[in-house]
Amino acid sequence: MKGKQPIGALTVYDFPTTRLLDETGVPFLLVGDSLGMVVLGYPDTTHVTMEHMEHHVRAAARAHPKALLAADLPYRSYETPEQAVFNAKRLVAAGAEAVKAEGGRSIVPQIKAIVDSGIPFCGHLGMLPQSVLEEGGYKIKGRSEIERGLLLADAEAVEQAGAFALVLELVTPMVAAEITQNQKIPTIGIGSGTECDGQILVTNDLLGTFPWFTPKFVKPRLAGSVLMREAITSWLGSIQNTKPTCTKTV
Ligand code: KIV
Repeated sequence: MKGKQPIGALTVYDFPTTRLLDETGVPFLLVGDSLGMVVLGYPDTTHVTMEHMEHHVRAAARAHPKALLAADLPYRSYETPEQAVFNAKRLVAAGAEAVKAEGGRSIVPQIKAIVDSGIPFCGHLGMLPQSVLEEGGYKIKGRSEIERGLLLADAEAVEQAGAFALVLELVTPMVAAEITQNQKIPTIGIGSGTECDGQILVTNDLLGTFPWFTPKFVKPRLAGSVLMREAITSWLGSIQNTKPTCTKTV
């Protein structure tokens, strides 16, 4: 799709959302490890395990989406090429058609091993949520000339290792545009400007169903939590006026 049409991508974590999103024609669905935060209630993605990922990949895969269904390798699940292949195979066995992992030159052996095992691989550069504790927050990448150089080199390395696409998270729009021009594989941006080949969002951010935190770069298209609260309050009110028809006491 690179150079032909913008690629839309969204996260999914369960059966009904996967089915609904797939029916809209989104071409790329990701069981992201963001599930740790927006579904499981953890403070960051470092708490997500392979078992969590498998459980949610299985649920999403039961929707049999026409979209490509990719899944994140979670924190510390790809420290060696052997471990990366073992865990990528577990995600594929659960129903994923591709896997994603965070990092550039430091994980090239893992990427090559995954691709050599026949599993399509999507890269992830820029702000790496699995490194949030070391980084001390969710910081924009590519502001300095050094960071720009590191990102360009990592993007080239991830492509050369065999990735089919590259997520760019919180990369300055200029550097994201440069990577998009340099690389043959599509870039999918999140908070990285409009010049990427595609855009990905956490679905809960787009639909406003996780109101306690919305990233600065997201403008929710639906006040999901407001509508849910209204519907529930209205239903609660409606049952206050109902009387049980059976008066028999036991
Ligand atoms: O885990 C996730 O949701 C991601 C984002 C890029 C959407 O990796």
